[in-house]
Amino acid sequence: MTQVQLSSDNQVLTLTTPSGTHRFHGVWLRHNALDADTRDPGNGQRLITLADLPDNCALATAEATENTVTVTFAADNKTVTFPLAWLLANAYDRPQDTTPGHLPPHAETWGKDLNDAVPTGHYPDLTSKPDAKRDWLAAIRRYGFAKVTGLPSESGALFKVVDLFGYVRETNYGRHFEVRTEVNPTNLAFTGLGLQAHTDNPYRDPVPTLQVLSCLENSAEGGDNMVVDGFAAAQKLHDQNPEGFALLHSHSARFEYAGEAGVRLTSRRPVIGITPEGTLLNIRFNARSAAAPVDVPFDKMPAYYAALRQLSDIIDDPMSEVRFKLAPGEAFIVDNTRVLHARKGYSGAGKRWLQGCYADKDGLLSTLAALETTA
Ligand code: FE2
Repeated sequence: MTQVQLSSDNQVLTLTTPSGTHRFHGVWLRHNALDADTRDPGNGQRLITLADLPDNCALATAEATENTVTVTFAADNKTVTFPLAWLLANAYDRPQDTTPGHLPPHAETWGKDLNDAVPTGHYPDLTSKPDAKRDWLAAIRRYGFAKVTGLPSESGALFKVVDLFGYVRETNYGRHFEVRTEVNPTNLAFTGLGLQAHTDNPYRDPVPTLQVLSCLENSAEGGDNMVVDGFAAAQKLHDQNPEGFALLHSHSARFEYAGEAGVRLTSRRPVIGITPEGTLLNIRFNARSAAAPVDVPFDKMPAYYAALRQLSDIIDDPMSEVRFKLAPGEAFIVDNTRVLHARKGYSGAGKRWLQGCYADKDGLLSTLAALETTA
């Protein structure tokens, strides 16, 4: 049985349901009203600004039915009705996890155990079966990466992966870039050198939030791809050295890339990004493009470097890595705000030809949410 009660100053509604008690402020109820004068019934966008709120959003009356709560505001007698389910879904009077470094909703950390269960979507299924696409997108949201099999083994196939959920982000590297050994490379990625696990392009602000790498040829010795969960690494650092974790999220690092004429990209952001509530937001980690840090106070610099080294060791630990070798017609996608990728060195024998491009996670999550809504 749902019950409502107003506070003695009429500023707060207390809602008691079998599932718990939640308080709501009058100003919050007024601003977030769902009626046609407040929200456009077609597109759901808010039609009012904060200036349209009465100076005092005291409540005059409140009533509950089995599925609704109706309130009237004292200032102008405006009456609005909320679905009970909506109020419960948006209740803010609840315990919140504010532990520094806790995971965002839907995320799950992993280590080498995931080698036995690499999330994978088969391209013909992803294009023809909405459930397969939904599950594949949900796996990317959960783990921060996934493979794709069954792509045509042709130049440009990586765009087919992006077309499943969004749009390519073009950069100075082009709409896509070729990853194969080059003479006089503009970037060490275009050599046979092994690369430490990293996030791409930390020198951009904002960074590209997704990367897709597709394989056209891979007969070279070595050249395996590796991925490492940056959120798991950050949590390990927090467990081992909470002060070091705090140093990495509370001081800006600097990143730069100036490897080609006319390009001078720089950013100034922390290595570990968290929200004000402590939720992990992003990781920027890239040995090649880390510039000199200047925003760490003098007396904290040694501890900052110690924490950075500790994070680097966690990332390099084989226990952290999932490893696979892409075959022609296969690709993988990484959440570049979370998952680091790496490549083992490869020799000149045979050929290795991959193509890469960037895209953005907002489109991916939007497509996933839409699929989940229609499910
Ligand atoms: Fe990379």
